[in-house]
Amino acid sequence: MAASIGAWLVPVVVLAIFYLVLFPNDLSQLQSALAPCSDGSPVATAASELTKTAAAAEDVDFRVFFGVVTRADFYERRALLRMAYALQPRPRRAVIDVRFVMCRLDKEEDAVLVALEIITHGDILVLNCTENMNDGKTYEYFSSLPRLFAGEPYDYAGKIDDDTYYRLEALADTLRGKARRDMWHGFLNPCHVSPERQYMSGMGYIGSWGAAEWIAASPELREDHEGHEDKAFGRWLRRGGRGKNVYGEEPRMYDYLDREMYAEVTCYRHELMADTVAVHKLKDRLKWARTLRFFNATDALKPSKMYHVDLTPKI
Ligand SMILES: *[C@@H]1O[C@H](CO)[C@@H](O)[C@H](O)[C@H]1NC(C)=O
Ligand SMILES: *[C@@H]1O[C@H](CO)[C@@H](O)[C@H](O)[C@H]1NC(C)=O
Repeated sequence: MAASIGAWLVPVVVLAIFYLVLFPNDLSQLQSALAPCSDGSPVATAASELTKTAAAAEDVDFRVFFGVVTRADFYERRALLRMAYALQPRPRRAVIDVRFVMCRLDKEEDAVLVALEIITHGDILVLNCTENMNDGKTYEYFSSLPRLFAGEPYDYAGKIDDDTYYRLEALADTLRGKARRDMWHGFLNPCHVSPERQYMSGMGYIGSWGAAEWIAASPELREDHEGHEDKAFGRWLRRGGRGKNVYGEEPRMYDYLDREMYAEVTCYRHELMADTVAVHKLKDRLKWARTLRFFNATDALKPSKMYHVDLTPKI
């Protein structure tokens, strides 16, 4: 039996090596933003081991744990996000691992269905928390990361809203020029007030890995969650001196706006623009559709006798 598995593996490995030699770039692109966690699913094969080696050999300036905080039962949103990030070009010289972060799977159906997602995609992190716990999720998230990835720490950890769409290459390019230590990147909220009153909007923020380590080493912060949890996160960073290098990404991060909405342009809200890092408040399918089309995600659709799809905007 073992011998026959071995015999079967040989052509696979030989093929994978050929592919690696002939198309090294293609192979590294295969390891997209959505490559499964290394310790994740049983789909790890000889080929995926080779993929990892290829990525390691490539120049990587930094690695980001990009945690999209969501709920177990938001299946449709997760499917959309997964597709949206998988279709983006892989950032150059940076690894941004998109992961979905949720609390314990207390319901029978969620345990089974999320288990199937984990088997299929290997991109889910389940924290030991309950969704209705009062503001403990942010602490649980950041304090868990250093322990979970002690052997392969990241450079940055991000906490991202599930109604936000980031353009990962734009994010990588903007982070590249910034301080690596005590960095705090996002959208400064409220906009245009004195800096000591500001914190990073919950649409999405990225901090240095050292901040997560400091949070993990400061269990007393768990009790400091008065007010909005993202505001509390700001207090923690200030207290620990871990967010000294503050980078507000206005106007390249903003809330979604289109002409059909009865809302005005403000310092935090405007229409889609080309140079975007992140768009927030994508609350329904139409907003997602318009955003993804604007950023040319549909360009890859090939003509076929199988369908006719009219993508022209209706506004
Ligand atoms: C989860 O947390 C609870 C208390 O908050 C603890 O009793 C339990 O052992 C934890 N479970 C795991 C798997 O760590
Ligand atoms: C989408 O593609 C069009 C046509 O190639 C281009 O003019 C436009 O700038 C692209 N939009 C963005 C947001 O990159």
